[in-house]
Amino acid sequence: MSGAAAGFGLTIVPDARAMGGAAADAVAAAIHHAPEAAIAVPTGSTPLPMFEELVGRVRRGELDLSRAHLYCLDEYLGVTADDPNSLTGWLRRAFLEPAGVDPTRIHVVPAADADPAAAAARYEAELAERGGLALAVLGLGPNGHVAYNEPGTDAESRTRIVSLTPESIAQASAYWEGELPIPERAITVGVGTLREARRIVLIVSGAAKADILRRALQEPMSEAVPASWLRLEGERLTVIADEAAASRLD
Ligand code: PGA
Repeated sequence: MSGAAAGFGLTIVPDARAMGGAAADAVAAAIHHAPEAAIAVPTGSTPLPMFEELVGRVRRGELDLSRAHLYCLDEYLGVTADDPNSLTGWLRRAFLEPAGVDPTRIHVVPAADADPAAAAARYEAELAERGGLALAVLGLGPNGHVAYNEPGTDAESRTRIVSLTPESIAQASAYWEGELPIPERAITVGVGTLREARRIVLIVSGAAKADILRRALQEPMSEAVPASWLRLEGERLTVIADEAAASRLD
């Protein structure tokens, strides 16, 4: 099923694999339009089918990501990109390296900088100098976050240091290895920054996301569900959900 709801595009596909294929099409379209496009991709388990599809296309010679600029969306405060627990490292292993993205074109959130607030502002400024994001592919957190814009985030927020909610810390613990506690703060690209992307694709799969997706798309936009702010962008937003995630939509 495909159609427009409240201005944004909504594509409902049978399963997570089909979601990954549809999201990969959006990435391929951005690259087709501009091989050096600036693209942001999320971490988490939701994007894995998209990554698998993109890596497959690269290996078959159907897609060339080597000139694209890939932007990470968030990172735990104080964690370096080469830390095995870093979101950046996860993204490199799951996608960027197998997809052949040029390491000099991978833009890493500077979460271990001596002055992280200034570094966050620089990350934002550097992205703006590049002309902003051509495409932001985003996952939907169980609490309605996008990147690490947690409940309470306003629609204009920029790249900054944030505190993680207990729910997000619990979610992150599924990926965290070792003795150290999970950092309680992160740097995230802001909702306002993401809203400026020329195209926004929100990918959502699984029945566990059905209620938060309904709230994000069908309740009044609010700080309680930061993903809801993406609807401000109307037709520049496309939501790709599998049937399980879409099962509570009207
Ligand atoms: P998940 O995380 O894909 O692991 O559910 C999504 C998110 O928090 O953005």
